[in-house]
Amino acid sequence: MKNKGKFISFEGPEGAGKTTVISVVSDRLKEQGKEVVLTREPGGIKISEAIREIILDNNHTQMDAKTEALLYAAARRQHLVEKVIPGLERGAIVLCDRFIDSSLAYQGYARELGMEEVLKINQFAIENTMPDLTIFFDIDPAEGLARIAKNDQREQNRLDNESLRFHESVYKGYQKLIQLYPERIIEVDARLSKTTVIENVYKIITSRLM
Ligand code: TMP
Repeated sequence: MKNKGKFISFEGPEGAGKTTVISVVSDRLKEQGKEVVLTREPGGIKISEAIREIILDNNHTQMDAKTEALLYAAARRQHLVEKVIPGLERGAIVLCDRFIDSSLAYQGYARELGMEEVLKINQFAIENTMPDLTIFFDIDPAEGLARIAKNDQREQNRLDNESLRFHESVYKGYQKLIQLYPERIIEVDARLSKTTVIENVYKIITSRLM
C-alpha cells in the first residue's frame, strides 16, 4: 500500500535545539487538524528505547563501532515497523528526531566505518522507507556542545562525551550528505532565536509538503 502520510526527519549536531523546536512545530500542525506522530531515534517505542539505553550508557566504553552501527540500525528497524510505517499508512505526519543520516554522519563518517557500508546495513533495516523531507539544524559543533554543557537538565551520554574533533567530523559528514541529497535535506540556521527557527521550520514543512 502506498503511504498517504509524510515522513520528516530532523538532523544536526548535539545541542542544535531540535527537540524543543520539533515539539512546538508538532503542536502547530495539530492545531491545523493534522494527525502528527512525534518520535525520536534511537527510541520512540519500548524495544528501541531499551536499545537506546544500551548504546548511550556511559559505562559501555568498550562498545565496538560496528556493534554501535548495528544497534542503531536494529532500533531503527523496530521503530519503523512498529510506529513510523503504521503512522504513514494512516496518513499522519511523522516527525522523527534523527533517522538514517545520523548513522551515516556519526557511524559512517565520524567513526570511519564508511558511509556506503553504513548505508548498506541500514538499507537492510529500512528497505525503501526514506524521509520525504529532512531538516538539518545548522550549528557549529563547539557552540552546540557549549549549549549542552550549560543545560543541567540534560544528561551527558556516551556520544556527547566524544571529543570535539569527533563532533567536528560528524558535522563534516552531514555536509557531505547535504551535497549528496540536496533535494531531500534542507538547512536551517540553528543559531537564530528559537522563535525564528520554529517559524522557519514550520514554513519549510508547509511549503514543501502541504
Ligand atoms: P539525541 O541526543 O539526539 O537523542 O541522540 C542520541 C545520540 O545518538 C546522539 O549523540 C546522536 C547519536 N546517534 C548516532 O550516532 N547514530 C544514529 O543513527 C542515531 C539515530 C543517533
